[in-house]
Amino acid sequence: MKKVLPVILLLGISCAAFSQRTAKKNIYLIPQPVSILQGEGSFTLPYQLIIVTTGNKELKKIAQQLAGRLSLVRGHPVTIKEAKAALPKSIFLSLSADHSIPKEGYRLKVTPAAVSLTAAEPAGIFYGIQTLYQLLPGEILSKTLADVKQWTIPAVTIEDYPRFGWRGILLDVVRHWFTKQQVKDFIDDMVQFKFNVLHLHLTDDQGWRLEIKSLPKLTEVGAWRAPRIGRWGEFTKPAPDEPKTYGGFYTQDDMRELIQYAKERYVTILPEIDVPGHSLAAVASYPELTCTTDSTYEVNAGNRFMIWPGNGTFYGLLDNTLCPANEKVYEFLDKVFTEVARLFPCPYIHMGGDECYKGYWEKSEACKQLMQKEGLKDMHELQSYFVKRVSAIISSKGKKMMGWDEIMDGGLADSAVVMSWQGMKGGTAAAAVKHAVVMSPNDYAYVDLYQGDPVAEPPTYSMLRLSKSYQFDPLPPGVDSQYILGGQCNLWSERLYTMRHAQYMLWPRGLAIAESVWSPKGKKNWNDFVHRVENQFHRFDIEEIKYSRSLYDPIFTAVKDSSGQLQIVLSTEIEGLTIYYSFDETYPDNFYPAYRAPLSVPKDAANLKVVTYRGKEQMGKIINMPIAELKKRAKIN
Ligand code: ACM
Repeated sequence: MKKVLPVILLLGISCAAFSQRTAKKNIYLIPQPVSILQGEGSFTLPYQLIIVTTGNKELKKIAQQLAGRLSLVRGHPVTIKEAKAALPKSIFLSLSADHSIPKEGYRLKVTPAAVSLTAAEPAGIFYGIQTLYQLLPGEILSKTLADVKQWTIPAVTIEDYPRFGWRGILLDVVRHWFTKQQVKDFIDDMVQFKFNVLHLHLTDDQGWRLEIKSLPKLTEVGAWRAPRIGRWGEFTKPAPDEPKTYGGFYTQDDMRELIQYAKERYVTILPEIDVPGHSLAAVASYPELTCTTDSTYEVNAGNRFMIWPGNGTFYGLLDNTLCPANEKVYEFLDKVFTEVARLFPCPYIHMGGDECYKGYWEKSEACKQLMQKEGLKDMHELQSYFVKRVSAIISSKGKKMMGWDEIMDGGLADSAVVMSWQGMKGGTAAAAVKHAVVMSPNDYAYVDLYQGDPVAEPPTYSMLRLSKSYQFDPLPPGVDSQYILGGQCNLWSERLYTMRHAQYMLWPRGLAIAESVWSPKGKKNWNDFVHRVENQFHRFDIEEIKYSRSLYDPIFTAVKDSSGQLQIVLSTEIEGLTIYYSFDETYPDNFYPAYRAPLSVPKDAANLKVVTYRGKEQMGKIINMPIAELKKRAKIN
């Protein structure tokens, strides 16, 4: 007898029951598919496995990827055959003329006799295979031969397709440099969860990372900076004669290779050239591009050059902007976008447009004259003038311009696509005036922020817990869905010195974003998601992908009570954990007092140490929280 899970959910039977049932059958899919029907038994991969395809060239390539993975971990070859129908005990990949299968969607049927995967286009087959991997033992992701006696796939019928066509991740390759191989590995990681856009942030104050053949100094000068390691933003200013040994860039051949690699995995690479702010690397290479034309500027090494007073305002200690009143700037940008447009098949080019400090424009005579000539009344309109010129350049290369939501300030260029990062209000406003939008709000999708208490995490700024990122919905109420292309998370790399740490910041929050952009909204369920995330942790271990376990750590709330004393409230992000604690400077375990009610601090205690357990198993890390820190948070002197 078949169990119809979507119907069970619709009937409102508890999600805990759903979790148990999925757990019983070892089905832990992320993102959750549109529908699953579980069957009886399972398909066991035979020793001599055959993958049958209906003959399409692209399908054959996908079959080769699948065969490559299976033969690597199983240690014996897989045969690929062309046929019109499945063979017994085979995996059958077929393209169907059935137009009821949505774009990128697939139908997967696993029975004890065979596996059949059907889609209307190759991308659907590719996503069906990602699902198939998640149905197989985690060892399918091993880097080498795996010790698995029987490779089985539970009997199941899945119908699936994405909620949004744009399912992106931004990787900042500027603040820290990631090699071509690292980017390829990153693509392999993201496609497992059906992401399909890799937004490469290629230029910024700290580097220019793409070869532009007509402007060689961009990479001769702009790709390199003085090396620094430690607390980003607090580094010493490089000495004038200090060797610039940190950095790198992608040659156009490198980028072509990456684009092809991504394409074979159904990922589009979106290039971002961030102007007119965030342009110090360009300015260091070609000082005549600023209003100040100061030739002493150099690529920033993580030393302070912008001041952020903390209320959303900022000012620059030097001019990192392109001058909107200088025609040479538009000639420069024409060269850059000509080469970028030729290189990248992506229909969009992202021109940044964010966080442009305009203090140097205000002082510039050339800007004043331009504003008078063009009737521009303020700095927003001046930036809008610049953005519209950039939009015209990008359109002239046959591409659509995309930019951060600041491109709306002073008037939005026709047909510009808005990437909404300062919350979703910019995207909502842009959709209201019929502009296409990608939502990547900092309050849900900035995966470079803290995911646990700052006392127990590497330094960054602001907080985004997994549970909050799971609430991401790229389609806010009242917004016309036809303008929302989708959503993405952003992995800025100021504090990501290594790819290992980039992984730690991305996973598991990237899983929450993946489910938010792929799965039907009604299918999202936090407790069930956590259950699947925990299973995914085991798979990440096998894959040797680093991830954060901060969801197991307690949340501290410091409260000043009516008598002015500190009360400490502890909670957990997920259910089923017990918190143990100590004030005596020793490390707690599950034989220590369990947290039951808000804690008062014993006289003279200096630190609270906490740890979480599930039953007898330690789940979180031991966190040492200074009482002084909690008093500061509760505003107790
Ligand atoms: C941004 O985070 N400045 C787009």
